[in-house]
Amino acid sequence: LRSPAAAPDRLPFSRITQGDLDFFRKILPGRVITDPDLLESSNVDWLKSVRGSSELLLRPQTTEEVSQILKYCNSRNLAVNPQGGNTGLVGGSVPVYDEIILSTALMNNILTFDSISGILTCQAGCVLENLSLYLEEKDYIMPLDLGAKGSCHIGGNVATNAGGLRLLRYGSLHGTVLGLEVVLGDGQVLDCLATLRKDNTGYDLKQLFIGSEGTLGVITAVSILCPRKPKSVNVVFLGCETFEQLLKTFQLCRGMLGEILSAYEFLDSEYCPFYVVIETSGSDPKHDGEKLHNFLEEAMTSSLVTDGTVATEDSKIKALWSMRERVTEALTHDGFTYKYDISLPVEKIYQLVTDMREHLGDRAKSVVGYGHVGDGNLHLNVTSPAKDPALLAAIEPFVYEWTARCHGSISAEHGLGLKKRNYIYYSKPSQAVALMGNIKAMLDPKGILNPYKTLPDNLK
Ligand code: FAD
Ligand code: MLT
Ligand code: ZN
Repeated sequence: LRSPAAAPDRLPFSRITQGDLDFFRKILPGRVITDPDLLESSNVDWLKSVRGSSELLLRPQTTEEVSQILKYCNSRNLAVNPQGGNTGLVGGSVPVYDEIILSTALMNNILTFDSISGILTCQAGCVLENLSLYLEEKDYIMPLDLGAKGSCHIGGNVATNAGGLRLLRYGSLHGTVLGLEVVLGDGQVLDCLATLRKDNTGYDLKQLFIGSEGTLGVITAVSILCPRKPKSVNVVFLGCETFEQLLKTFQLCRGMLGEILSAYEFLDSEYCPFYVVIETSGSDPKHDGEKLHNFLEEAMTSSLVTDGTVATEDSKIKALWSMRERVTEALTHDGFTYKYDISLPVEKIYQLVTDMREHLGDRAKSVVGYGHVGDGNLHLNVTSPAKDPALLAAIEPFVYEWTARCHGSISAEHGLGLKKRNYIYYSKPSQAVALMGNIKAMLDPKGILNPYKTLPDNLK
């Protein structure tokens, strides 16, 4: 029996011919990559868990070039895998078979920034961290931040509707993205690159592409609303003995820190049962410091937290954040990681880790929980020395059934990609999935855009 996550058979797309290569070389001189060594890193995902066998990587620089590529691929029935920084965690960013990889790496220009409204417009291939550095000089920040910031592209962030470490304060990309430019499967350029806060002229089409994982169009430019850089930032790293105390601390800090609370993250550990990272961002260091001090005093005297450390200077703030951000990478040293990204009512999020540990016993090397408590988002990670199909069969569908019983989501922020596509029904009713299939068929009738991803196999 094949696992539902396994790739379906190759669909009947055309294979690349010399004529195709000649065409691409003409429109993208020097930016058509066929060298297998250069293609290797684009064929394998960040987790080294899935691998494609594409023989062609295209590196357009402009929207017009993306349009020409897709128009051609659509007419030739050639499948295309849009790729940003290739940091996706669900096997969506690399080809499954021989799809052409369309990379946004050279589409990295900032187009405009309005220092009054804080609206940034840029090409899709801008690296998130570069955008943050650019904005910092102008006293602004990006509304999102994540551990993969040094590699991920803003287009990839939008395509996955990435959440990350600032969602608690600034909300999701469905709110902060004001406009998108997208090239559809047949090469048409859809210009929805508005830079307006408000625009109710009919359906908000850009929302369809936010989180569509490259299956509906290639995002070529983004306009996004950026917040002012906070004048005062504090980060606190605390230890908690139980998850119940961690939740009580969350409640306490929501009450006492109020509008300055900007992140509440957690990780479990073998040294202390739980660590919490709390960030405050505000405009008055004295006011924020006082609030934080009062909160910490209350949390300590009521024995909600055991010990901790506070950072106000930049370098220490970065060091504390990196302890949280680098868990993903640290886990890769265990061997192979089975990753689950679950949304649940916040009081239930750690129960899943405990139940999974009990369920797997010593079949797993470790069962680790961390994530965005403030958003009710658990990252459940099961590691083993190597890929282990028997272990996988013990985890799935157990984890999905557990999540569905609690009316949670089987993908809070990473998307479905290749790995989770067939589990969509645990979180979405069949009518909704069928409607998604209709939208896909309307926007990409030949199904050339990121095939085998996001939608379940029965819709393809
Ligand atoms: P890729 O990985 O290249 O692609 C991801 C998907 O988007 C693919 O389906 C691809 O086809 C599609 N795509 C990419 N670019 C485009 C485009 N221009 N147009 C259309 N489709 C496109 N995710 C979170 O939500 N929160 C986190 O906190 C977080 N932290 C992470 C930390 C680490 C260390 C790592 C490795 C990953 C993390 N991720 C997180 C997962 C990942 O989703 C994000 O890193 C990021 O949003 C992916 O961007 P990318 O440019 O790397 O996209
Ligand atoms: C995170 O919050 O660290 C990311 O989503 C990556 C992960 O789940 O490991
Ligand atoms: Zn996350």
